[in-house]
Amino acid sequence: KQSQVSADVTEKWPYRHYMQKEIYEQPTVVGETLKNLIHAADRTISVSQTAVGLDLAAVQAVTIVACGTSYHAGMVAKYWIEQQARVPVNVDVASEYRYRNTPMAAGSLMIVISQSGETADTLAALRHAKAQGQQVLGVVNVPESTIDREADATLYTLAGPEIGVASTKAFTTQLTVLACLALALAKARGQLSPEDERRHVEDLLQIPARIEQVLTHDDKLQEVGRQLMHASGFLFLGRGAQFPIALEGALKLKEISYIHAEGYAAGEMKHGPIALIDEELPVVVVAPKDGLHEKTISNVEEVKARGGRVVMIHTAGESTGVAADFEVGIAPCGEFAAPILYVTPLQLLAYHIAVHKGTDVDQPRNLAKSVTVE
Ligand code: G6P
Repeated sequence: KQSQVSADVTEKWPYRHYMQKEIYEQPTVVGETLKNLIHAADRTISVSQTAVGLDLAAVQAVTIVACGTSYHAGMVAKYWIEQQARVPVNVDVASEYRYRNTPMAAGSLMIVISQSGETADTLAALRHAKAQGQQVLGVVNVPESTIDREADATLYTLAGPEIGVASTKAFTTQLTVLACLALALAKARGQLSPEDERRHVEDLLQIPARIEQVLTHDDKLQEVGRQLMHASGFLFLGRGAQFPIALEGALKLKEISYIHAEGYAAGEMKHGPIALIDEELPVVVVAPKDGLHEKTISNVEEVKARGGRVVMIHTAGESTGVAADFEVGIAPCGEFAAPILYVTPLQLLAYHIAVHKGTDVDQPRNLAKSVTVE
């Protein structure tokens, strides 16, 4: 098992809040986390069978269990593992999984994701799976936490201590680990060509610099936040692996600004949330230029046709063909790694709206950093 990088956690200067500091640490901690998972020199994945200590080639099915933001990381991992390794994946919130008494197929792997390594429901799910004879892999940020100790193997996120209650750098490092794990599973199962491995590792290696570029939009997102801070509700839309990013954007906003926000799969909008759309409801759309882009844009057109205000997070330099009210262009990046990049503008938007509203950003009401009770 690898060790955690140390960081001065008590000092937030020159930042105003820990959450802001932690958003800005993401290029560094994603880079640190990647170092343990890839061979940069030859652009290959280094998460091997022996490194993890689990028989990855024998995995027939995957169950991912987590809570909160970690659950959203697990939802992204479902897209990655199914697409890359061709293994079916179930993702569940731990509080549901633990009481459902789910049958488990032989040869399945459970992945539990937890920043703290102490979340009560996630730990109970881990114990349930182990009692059924399942292999359990932890994706954990705190070494020597209970989940780290009880899992058969752990891959660490090297985010360093996260103090802001709203999780940011833990999420992007979880995604980094899970992307590499998806590629490692694909490789172990003979599903990953050397060209695809090189291409995806190349993209992952560029993520830290691209998050830096996203951070240059901070002032713009602050202004967008200022203009939208009085809205009483927000809708976040995304498709494919960007759908969980939309969910995470909505979660960040409701946690720290206390504005009601819903994340939705863009294609599902017509089955309900479209009824909410009027000039009062801002709709944040995660719309990179990927295989599903045109479908997402047609949803944006539906929102515009009903007078909705649209914040579009899209690929810089690519025309979207639709006039959004606010646009944030993100540097082009491979589709596989893109979810890691697209969450940061949403973190910044939520952060600025909360600051404009004057809430306690680092310690939002009613929330705890680590939920060790049921
Ligand atoms: C709490 C925190 C969230 C976190 C969730 C899961 O609700 O406020 O930020 O995502 O617990 O925590 P874990 O430590 O298991 O990732």
